[in-house]
Amino acid sequence: MNVVHGGNIYELSARAGCSPDDILDFSASINPLGPPPGLAHILSGCFHRLASYPDIHNKLLIEAISKFHDIDPECIAVGNGSTELIYWLPRALGVSKALVAAPTFGEYAKAFELQGTRLQKMFTAPEDHFQPLVEQLEAALQKDSFEAVLLTHPASPSGALLAAETINWVAENSRKSGRPFLLIDEVFIDFCEQASLKRFLDRSPNLAIIRSFTKFYGSPGLRIGYLLAPPQVAAQVRRHLPPWSVNTLAQAAGAYCFSQDDYRRKTLDLVAKQRQRLAAGLSAISGLKVFPAQANYLLVRMDRSLPPASRLKWDIFERDRILIRDCGSFEGLDDWYFRVAVRMEDQNDRLIAALQHAL
Ligand SMILES: Cc1ncc(COP(=O)(O)O)c(C=O)c1O
Repeated sequence: MNVVHGGNIYELSARAGCSPDDILDFSASINPLGPPPGLAHILSGCFHRLASYPDIHNKLLIEAISKFHDIDPECIAVGNGSTELIYWLPRALGVSKALVAAPTFGEYAKAFELQGTRLQKMFTAPEDHFQPLVEQLEAALQKDSFEAVLLTHPASPSGALLAAETINWVAENSRKSGRPFLLIDEVFIDFCEQASLKRFLDRSPNLAIIRSFTKFYGSPGLRIGYLLAPPQVAAQVRRHLPPWSVNTLAQAAGAYCFSQDDYRRKTLDLVAKQRQRLAAGLSAISGLKVFPAQANYLLVRMDRSLPPASRLKWDIFERDRILIRDCGSFEGLDDWYFRVAVRMEDQNDRLIAALQHAL
């Protein structure tokens, strides 16, 4: 199974005969400020430790996550990006059949399939901002039995939070013993942390939350993800993970990132302001509809009279070296949707100008 991702600047630059640095990448949704200031110093300070294995228990990193979220260290498992956790979760939780709200991150289908888990998709609607309704969830669970339900919060690629009724449904159902287990992907929730469902964890034996440093801390290259879950679930996941999957630099970086209050504030201010500005700029282009979003990316639907997003993508890449994410590969969307990251003001302006020109 071939999963398509944004951010593939290495393959594209080789094809176009340019450097990856020449590409203005809106296809991966990463904090436009990059990693927190001072991180390079922290990493070089750890460089000599590369001659030893990393701490096999990830103690400093787990302590930092525990302190930041005010959650017991027993409730945390860390991995090589949240993707590694996603690959182990079906087996660690003993899930043979799961329900997923789609469209969503393509790796879920591959990860679950590789573990022999049947993953059934429940398609969400544009008018619900691509988040599931309680009626839809209830109907799917009545029709069939699932050991896990997987939701993305905020949704990817729409950026919408779960509706209040769906959140209440998650809270209620994750409290009940027995299945289904509720798995919530919150890798983008740092952009609206107050909405995190982590607040239900202490009352919910059937809830696990997938988190990541990748998006908010501008560090996809470091690979740091973590799971917040009841102690026995986190322990089960930790037992399945390979030793040393979080390297020494990533362990130190993760702990440092959580100490960066000023960077966090700047990021939140910047992304909120630029998201609004970019949404207004895109909406002003005839034939584009921008979905309301709470994270650092925007989903855009194109009028059918316009050329499809895959063609638009190549047009602006060839001309402007700007990369957007066409969404035809997301099951539940089609080639008249694209997604763009929220970046710095001048970069967003370049994107708007390139789209205006191409359309
Ligand atoms: C919704 C969602 N979940 C999880 C991931 C995996 O992120 P990482 O492995 O970098 O933590 C991604 C990456 O694009 C994503 O979009």
